[in-house]
Amino acid sequence: MKITFYGHASLGIQIEDINIIVDPFITGNPKASDIDINNLKADYILVTHAHQDHILDVEAIAKRTGAKIVSNFEIVSHYEKMGLDGHPMNHGGQWKFDFGTVKYVNAIHTSSFPDGSYGGQPGGFIIKSKNKTIYIAGDTALTYDMKLIRKSFNLDLAILPIGDNFTMGIDDALIASNFLKCDNILGYHYDTFGYIEIDKVKAKAKFDTELKSLKLLKIGESIEL
Ligand code: NI
Ligand code: MN
Repeated sequence: MKITFYGHASLGIQIEDINIIVDPFITGNPKASDIDINNLKADYILVTHAHQDHILDVEAIAKRTGAKIVSNFEIVSHYEKMGLDGHPMNHGGQWKFDFGTVKYVNAIHTSSFPDGSYGGQPGGFIIKSKNKTIYIAGDTALTYDMKLIRKSFNLDLAILPIGDNFTMGIDDALIASNFLKCDNILGYHYDTFGYIEIDKVKAKAKFDTELKSLKLLKIGESIEL
């Protein structure tokens, strides 16, 4: 499994020959100006919630690639009305796709579309492929619900928001890592704009002192699991 960071909360996930894009917000992020959405491959687009900083490029990428949009019922309905392909889910449900099983799990956040219309309830995803299992938390507060995840999944990586203000910050991400029993964390949803700027050196040091790993990728950089 190869994971590429496209800035903010946008990810590319490659599992064998299947390409997944998560929460594409690229054309609206000046820091991601080196990434051209027209070059991104997508068989699936996973969307955690309806906020602008997670859906901005969904329509354009889905229209060009024909990718299937996987999200909550309300978000998928929104895109199906545009003639795009979707797979609706809701909290607690899982489905076996050709790249692995996806479970849509709880997140504590909100989820309105940019025009204020209802975007369902926000969520996160667990992706369990043949060899690796990852958790993409989406925008969320720290929640005890994270303890349920470890009952069913041994995570190889947890992707957690660390920017604070709109989501959990670094101290809560550290607690989340304990709840999840996963010491391998990829941080996202930080530094994109003023409210969520963080001290990256301090953040990494906090994880180091607890013998955990906080990875922070440059935009366009990938890790292989
Ligand atoms: Ni949000
Ligand atoms: Mn967000």
